Amino acid sequence: MKTLIIMGSSRSNGHTRKIVDYIRGRIDASFIDLNDYQIAYYDYDGNYPAEDNFLDLMERVVGYDQLIFATPIYWYAMSAQLKTFFDRLTDCLKIRKDIGYALKGKKMFMVSCGSDEEVPKEFDVPFKDSADYLHMKYVGGVHTWIDEENEIEEYVKLLLNGFCKQLE
Ligand SMILES: Cc1cc2nc3c(=O)[nH]c(=O)nc-3n(C[C@H](O)[C@H](O)[C@H](O)COP(=O)(O)O)c2cc1C
Repeated sequence: MKTLIIMGSSRSNGHTRKIVDYIRGRIDASFIDLNDYQIAYYDYDGNYPAEDNFLDLMERVVGYDQLIFATPIYWYAMSAQLKTFFDRLTDCLKIRKDIGYALKGKKMFMVSCGSDEEVPKEFDVPFKDSADYLHMKYVGGVHTWIDEENEIEEYVKLLLNGFCKQLE
Protein backbone atom coordinates (compact mmCIF):
# COMPACT_ATOMS: atom_id res chain seq x y z
CA MET A 1 0.00 0.00 0.00
CA LYS A 2 1.42 3.37 -0.96
CA THR A 3 0.71 5.93 1.73
CA LEU A 4 0.79 9.72 1.52
CA ILE A 5 0.51 12.19 4.39
CA ILE A 6 -0.90 15.58 3.40
CA MET A 7 -0.29 18.19 6.09
CA GLY A 8 -1.95 21.60 6.24
CA SER A 9 -0.67 23.78 9.07
CA SER A 10 0.24 27.45 9.46
CA ARG A 11 3.74 26.35 10.40
CA SER A 12 5.70 23.75 8.53
CA ASN A 13 7.80 22.69 11.51
CA GLY A 14 5.30 22.96 14.33
CA HIS A 15 3.37 20.50 16.44
CA THR A 16 1.47 18.79 13.65
CA ARG A 17 4.76 18.21 11.85
CA LYS A 18 6.19 16.63 14.99
CA ILE A 19 3.29 14.16 14.99
CA VAL A 20 3.70 13.52 11.27
CA ASP A 21 7.41 12.84 11.75
CA TYR A 22 6.60 10.34 14.50
CA ILE A 23 4.20 8.51 12.16
CA ARG A 24 6.79 8.55 9.38
CA GLY A 25 9.27 7.00 11.79
CA ARG A 26 6.97 3.98 12.09
CA ILE A 27 5.47 3.55 8.64
CA ASP A 28 6.64 4.07 5.10
CA ALA A 29 4.79 7.19 3.93
CA SER A 30 5.49 10.03 1.56
CA PHE A 31 4.79 13.54 2.73
CA ILE A 32 3.31 16.70 1.29
CA ASP A 33 3.32 20.01 3.16
CA LEU A 34 0.59 22.16 1.62
CA ASN A 35 2.70 25.25 2.43
CA ASP A 36 5.04 24.18 -0.38
CA TYR A 37 2.29 24.58 -2.99
CA GLN A 38 0.27 27.44 -4.41
CA ILE A 39 -3.36 26.48 -3.96
CA ALA A 40 -5.85 29.26 -4.68
CA TYR A 41 -9.29 29.38 -3.10
CA TYR A 42 -11.92 27.49 -5.08
CA ASP A 43 -13.24 29.46 -8.06
CA TYR A 44 -16.64 28.58 -9.59
CA ASP A 45 -15.37 29.41 -13.09
CA GLY A 46 -12.11 27.54 -12.75
CA ASN A 47 -10.10 30.73 -13.18
CA TYR A 48 -6.86 30.06 -11.36
CA PRO A 49 -3.49 31.84 -11.51
CA ALA A 50 -0.95 30.24 -13.84
CA GLU A 51 1.20 29.34 -10.84
CA ASP A 52 -1.59 27.36 -9.14
CA ASN A 53 -0.30 23.86 -8.32
CA PHE A 54 -3.47 22.08 -7.24
CA LEU A 55 -4.18 19.87 -10.26
CA ASP A 56 -0.50 18.93 -10.67
CA LEU A 57 -0.45 18.05 -7.01
CA MET A 58 -3.58 15.91 -7.38
CA GLU A 59 -2.04 14.01 -10.26
CA ARG A 60 0.64 12.99 -7.79
CA VAL A 61 -1.86 12.30 -4.98
CA VAL A 62 -3.84 9.74 -7.00
CA GLY A 63 -0.72 7.61 -7.26
CA TYR A 64 -1.21 6.61 -3.60
CA ASP A 65 -3.58 4.07 -2.05
CA GLN A 66 -3.92 5.63 1.40
CA LEU A 67 -4.21 9.35 2.14
CA ILE A 68 -3.64 10.67 5.65
CA PHE A 69 -4.77 14.24 6.26
CA ALA A 70 -2.87 15.87 9.11
CA THR A 71 -4.17 19.11 10.56
CA PRO A 72 -3.85 21.23 13.66
CA ILE A 73 -7.13 22.19 15.26
CA TYR A 74 -7.72 25.88 14.68
CA TRP A 75 -10.93 27.24 16.15
CA TYR A 76 -12.51 23.77 16.54
CA ALA A 77 -12.00 22.94 12.86
CA MET A 78 -9.38 21.82 10.35
CA SER A 79 -6.74 24.37 9.26
CA ALA A 80 -7.54 26.85 6.50
CA GLN A 81 -4.78 25.29 4.39
CA LEU A 82 -6.44 21.88 4.49
CA LYS A 83 -9.95 23.31 4.07
CA THR A 84 -8.84 25.13 0.91
CA PHE A 85 -7.43 21.85 -0.37
CA PHE A 86 -10.77 20.14 0.31
CA ASP A 87 -12.69 22.96 -1.39
CA ARG A 88 -10.50 22.51 -4.45
CA LEU A 89 -11.41 18.81 -4.64
CA THR A 90 -14.55 20.22 -6.28
CA ASP A 91 -12.37 20.78 -9.37
CA CYS A 92 -11.82 17.02 -9.47
CA LEU A 93 -15.57 16.53 -9.84
CA LYS A 94 -16.02 19.25 -12.46
CA ILE A 95 -13.01 20.18 -14.57
CA ARG A 96 -10.83 17.11 -13.99
CA LYS A 97 -13.32 14.30 -13.46
CA ASP A 98 -10.61 11.78 -14.31
CA ILE A 99 -8.85 12.72 -11.07
CA GLY A 100 -12.09 12.52 -9.08
CA TYR A 101 -12.71 9.06 -10.53
CA ALA A 102 -9.18 7.98 -9.64
CA LEU A 103 -9.84 8.80 -5.97
CA LYS A 104 -12.52 6.12 -5.75
CA GLY A 105 -11.73 3.27 -3.40
CA LYS A 106 -8.71 4.95 -1.81
CA LYS A 107 -8.46 4.89 1.97
CA MET A 108 -8.63 8.11 3.95
CA PHE A 109 -7.30 8.71 7.48
CA MET A 110 -7.12 11.82 9.63
CA VAL A 111 -4.66 13.05 12.24
CA SER A 112 -5.56 16.06 14.36
CA CYS A 113 -3.26 17.97 16.69
CA GLY A 114 -4.70 20.37 19.22
CA SER A 115 -3.74 21.94 22.50
CA ASP A 116 -6.64 20.19 24.23
CA GLU A 117 -6.67 16.48 24.90
CA GLU A 118 -10.29 16.46 23.86
CA VAL A 119 -11.11 16.66 20.19
CA PRO A 120 -14.02 18.97 19.26
CA LYS A 121 -17.32 17.18 18.80
CA GLU A 122 -17.89 15.89 15.26
CA PHE A 123 -14.42 17.07 14.17
CA ASP A 124 -14.10 14.09 11.84
CA VAL A 125 -17.44 14.58 10.07
CA PRO A 126 -16.03 16.64 7.15
CA PHE A 127 -13.46 13.90 6.55
CA LYS A 128 -15.94 11.03 6.78
CA ASP A 129 -18.56 12.73 4.65
CA SER A 130 -16.05 13.93 2.05
CA ALA A 131 -14.71 10.39 1.79
CA ASP A 132 -18.26 9.10 1.25
CA TYR A 133 -18.94 11.74 -1.38
CA LEU A 134 -15.73 10.93 -3.22
CA HIS A 135 -16.36 7.16 -2.90
CA MET A 136 -13.27 6.83 -0.77
CA LYS A 137 -13.16 4.75 2.43
CA TYR A 138 -12.73 6.69 5.65
CA VAL A 139 -10.91 4.27 7.93
CA GLY A 140 -10.30 6.37 11.03
CA GLY A 141 -8.44 9.11 12.76
CA VAL A 142 -6.32 9.86 15.78
CA HIS A 143 -6.34 12.95 17.94
CA THR A 144 -3.02 14.12 19.37
CA TRP A 145 -1.42 16.95 21.30
CA ILE A 146 2.06 18.12 22.26
CA ASP A 147 2.99 18.52 25.92
CA GLU A 148 4.42 21.55 27.72
CA GLU A 149 7.99 20.36 27.09
CA ASN A 150 7.17 20.41 23.38
CA GLU A 151 7.29 16.62 23.23
CA ILE A 152 4.88 13.82 22.35
CA GLU A 153 3.88 12.26 25.65
CA GLU A 154 3.90 8.47 26.07
CA TYR A 155 0.11 8.16 26.00
CA VAL A 156 -0.09 9.97 22.67
CA LYS A 157 2.68 7.73 21.33
CA LEU A 158 0.54 4.72 22.26
CA LEU A 159 -2.40 6.23 20.40
CA LEU A 160 -0.19 6.86 17.39
CA ASN A 161 1.25 3.34 17.49
CA GLY A 162 -2.30 1.95 17.38
CA PHE A 163 -3.15 4.30 14.53
CA CYS A 164 -0.08 3.20 12.57
CA LYS A 165 -1.15 -0.44 12.86
CA GLN A 166 -4.23 0.38 10.74
CA LEU A 167 -1.94 1.63 8.00
CA GLU A 168 0.29 -1.40 7.59
C1 LIG B 1 -5.53 30.09 15.34
C2 LIG B 1 -5.46 28.98 16.34
C3 LIG B 1 -6.61 28.39 16.80
C4 LIG B 1 -6.56 27.32 17.69
N1 LIG B 1 -7.72 26.70 18.08
C5 LIG B 1 -7.66 25.58 18.83
C6 LIG B 1 -8.85 24.86 19.18
O1 LIG B 1 -9.96 25.22 18.81
N2 LIG B 1 -8.73 23.73 19.92
C7 LIG B 1 -7.50 23.27 20.34
O2 LIG B 1 -7.41 22.21 21.00
N3 LIG B 1 -6.36 23.93 20.04
C8 LIG B 1 -6.42 25.07 19.29
N4 LIG B 1 -5.25 25.72 18.94
C9 LIG B 1 -3.96 25.16 19.36
C10 LIG B 1 -3.34 24.32 18.24
O3 LIG B 1 -4.26 23.40 17.70
C11 LIG B 1 -2.17 23.51 18.79
O4 LIG B 1 -1.23 24.38 19.38
C12 LIG B 1 -1.52 22.69 17.70
O5 LIG B 1 -0.62 21.79 18.30
C13 LIG B 1 -0.76 23.59 16.73
O6 LIG B 1 -0.20 22.83 15.69
P1 LIG B 1 0.76 23.53 14.60
O7 LIG B 1 2.06 23.80 15.29
O8 LIG B 1 0.89 22.55 13.49
O9 LIG B 1 0.06 24.79 14.18
C14 LIG B 1 -5.30 26.83 18.11
C15 LIG B 1 -4.13 27.46 17.68
C16 LIG B 1 -4.20 28.51 16.80
C17 LIG B 1 -2.92 29.15 16.32
